[in-house]
Amino acid sequence: MLGFKSIKAALLISMLGFAGLTATTQAAAACSFVSTKDGSPLAIKATGTDTPQAKEFLETCINPYTKAYAADPTLIKKGGKKLFGYNGCSGCHGGKLEGVMAPSLSKFGGQGAFDTKWVYAKNATDKGMFETISGGTPGTSGGVMATWHVTLADHVGDGLSTDDILQIIAYIRSEYKGDGEKTWLK
Ligand code: HEC
Repeated sequence: MLGFKSIKAALLISMLGFAGLTATTQAAAACSFVSTKDGSPLAIKATGTDTPQAKEFLETCINPYTKAYAADPTLIKKGGKKLFGYNGCSGCHGGKLEGVMAPSLSKFGGQGAFDTKWVYAKNATDKGMFETISGGTPGTSGGVMATWHVTLADHVGDGLSTDDILQIIAYIRSEYKGDGEKTWLK
């Protein structure tokens, strides 16, 4: 007959097993990032002030703002557009994303090699563009871009949160005029 103690032990073991399983499932579901600079892992950390949208992205790699902005363009002005100007992105990429001393982000067409296509092909996904803005770039177009994410070392100024970067990406998507497919809306 099974004693009380062994039942308790069996219960404990099964509980531990369950906890272990949940932990692995969560780790597997989380989005893992790679640096645009050198392909190494990019250690983006969650913070106590992460918004629900930021948390969703860190779990799924999907930027919830992209479709929200496409459905309701009135969100853009107060959100991503404001953050883009406020943080000085427009100084290099232009107030209309036309490219000033850095590649155009609207990809409207023109003289430059990168006026219609992304310098880094991965920027056709929101995850890829998040990695580019967060961790900086190696300089394929002739200039390099610095690190922006607040949880990475050597970020510009006060740095940007996951949520800030997601809203900025959604703004950049809303201005896209290039000849590629808008895969980020799928
Ligand atoms: C000091 C100038 C400068 C500032 C400020 C700057 N960038 Fe950049 N950015 C660049 C340069 C230069 C590149 C091209 C990098 C390369 O070729 O490696 C670039 C590339 C990019 C790309 C990839 C473009 C492509 O075609 O693949 C994105 C997206 C981007 N920047 C977004 C931003 C955002 C968002 C901000 C503000 C948070 C910002 N940048 C601020 C200079 C800047």
